[in-house]
Amino acid sequence: ISLVAFNTFALQQNCNSLVEVTSKAELIDICNNLYKQELPMLVLGGGSNLVFTEDYDGTVVKVSTKGIQFTADDDYQYITIQAGENWHNLVESCLQKQIDGLENMALIPGTVGAAPIQNIGAYGVEFNRFCYEIEFLQLDTGHLVRFNNQQCDFGYRESIFKKQLNNLAVITEVTLKLAKHWVPVIDYGPLQHFDPSTVTAKQIFDCVCHTRQSKLPDPKVLGNVGSFFKNPLVSTKAYNQLKLRFTDLVAYQQVDGQYKLAAGWLIDYVGLKGFHIGDAAVHQEQALVLVNLGNATGKQVCQLALYIIEMVFDKFGVILQPEPRVMGSVGEIDIK
Ligand code: EPU
Repeated sequence: ISLVAFNTFALQQNCNSLVEVTSKAELIDICNNLYKQELPMLVLGGGSNLVFTEDYDGTVVKVSTKGIQFTADDDYQYITIQAGENWHNLVESCLQKQIDGLENMALIPGTVGAAPIQNIGAYGVEFNRFCYEIEFLQLDTGHLVRFNNQQCDFGYRESIFKKQLNNLAVITEVTLKLAKHWVPVIDYGPLQHFDPSTVTAKQIFDCVCHTRQSKLPDPKVLGNVGSFFKNPLVSTKAYNQLKLRFTDLVAYQQVDGQYKLAAGWLIDYVGLKGFHIGDAAVHQEQALVLVNLGNATGKQVCQLALYIIEMVFDKFGVILQPEPRVMGSVGEIDIK
């Protein structure tokens, strides 16, 4: 079975079998069974953070569970969403109901169930800001578990679901908690021109959509998985040294004093925009995004990524970490 329609990079690999599940009960049942039989399984949301390097020798479980429930108390809105809902549709549904807060994360590809795994984020807001509770199937015990925000151990593009619970948790349901008293977040680049006392969530939403559409390629047109690398964190000392040598360096200071370097700037600086290996290329408009020009293979994407890592390391002494998950024939692999 071809996976081309199930990964936004449009990589042409196959899997042994694919089941699409539309109810939570079915999702739990199928995953429990596959796990007990020790068969390789890949639980798939939107396929927007995966790089298939080989055919997948196992079962792909495509999560298409649907449903959004809204409740509220005096101060907060609570939204419980089934894992298979599309993230951007959720953002739009909330705005339509005058539930504000998610607007900075408009147009992030993928499903709601995948959002906590890498703690998606954009334009100054990350998923964990609104995460109230995650419900998941823990495969080694077969039980449904609920974790609160703290238990998820969120970080920058990180969570417990990529660490201790890697490959052990199938997210079934997500509950968000949004304050009725909305506070706009407008400190990131293109949002800075807004006046905090008059700006609306819809204006932020429109601006984010416009900005993303102008530099991020539409996966339907040009296969990609968004940013291919995380923005690397460096110490104040390392940042100061780099800033002396590269005065235009783009970086954001973190609360702990570290600096987050704009990886796109680093890749751009070493002149790799447009560079390609076969049909795997560095996007012209945003060097942090790798694209499939047509018939790229996952292996070419990895070769390109390794070349970028090497070039950036030689120039800046900084090691870039890939952001998407790289898949081999039976599971996740290291890019090297
Ligand atoms: N830049 C360049 N050249 C490039 C690309 C970027 O000079 O080719 C510079 C830009 O001019 C800007 C800075 O680098 O000054 C940052 O660029 P941008 O605002 O496009 O954001 P980013 O740091 O590259 C991150 C997230 C994106 C998110 C945006 C907006 C990561 C890995 N990526 O990208 O998330 O949309 O900020 O918040 O943190 C994703 O994770 O897939 C993703 C798209």
